[in-house]
Amino acid sequence: MKLADVWNQIEGANEADFSFPDKPSDSERNPWHSNPSELAKIGMFLRLFQPSVVVELGTFEARGTEFILEEMKKYAGGKITILFTVDVPYIPMWLPNGYGETTAPGFDASVTLRRARIKDLVIRSGPVELIYIERLAYDAGPIIVKVVPEVNFIFHDACHLAAAMMDDIKSFGELKEGTVICFDNVLEGHCIFDFLGNEFKDWDSFHLKTETGQLWLQRR
Ligand SMILES: C[S@@+](CC[C@H](N)C(=O)[O-])C[C@H]1O[C@@H](n2cnc3c(N)ncnc32)[C@H](O)[C@@H]1O
Repeated sequence: MKLADVWNQIEGANEADFSFPDKPSDSERNPWHSNPSELAKIGMFLRLFQPSVVVELGTFEARGTEFILEEMKKYAGGKITILFTVDVPYIPMWLPNGYGETTAPGFDASVTLRRARIKDLVIRSGPVELIYIERLAYDAGPIIVKVVPEVNFIFHDACHLAAAMMDDIKSFGELKEGTVICFDNVLEGHCIFDFLGNEFKDWDSFHLKTETGQLWLQRR
């Protein structure tokens, strides 16, 4: 299915058509959870495309993971469906020559909470296989493409710097025709938009004016 043909439905997705997991922690920890208006767009995409292999880069406390999992469970019956979610047990600081590790008050609790929530989600994942990979996004890409024949949808919600985003996606190698990527936190007019536009010449692109912006791409 072409994203272009259903784009208006994704753009117009309404929060009222979805239910959202509660925020698992209060805002004293890093308030990094995706908000419902952004998740609704992803939910609509999942309902329309029913992708078999989904990758979330940036789990945080697994609110988005739970939302995506619940949507995938609705169409998973009878076919192989896998949800990978990827994060690290520290706050990664992106540096030109690699990542540095930092922590902030409360962040350990966030990681502990994430692990516990993933454990619980795995138990009730039903027909969907949920796999948590505790690594940097660009280290997880090569692992994922080794175990699945193709990746259909990547929700990139990890480090939002353009160069890091590119490294993360390139780590998946050649993505197949029809593959969709949703980059969270891409505001219109931001240089990232031009940068990705130049790098993704074989892809159709769509920009969403949600609270923090989303850039959607589909491989032609
Ligand atoms: C905005 S939060 C993710 C929110 C989550 N997707 C949700 O829907 O609630 C960003 C997460 O990305 C993680 N992250 C940042 N850079 C990363 C990287 N290079 N590899 C893996 N995870 C990364 C952070 O540790 C943080 O937990």
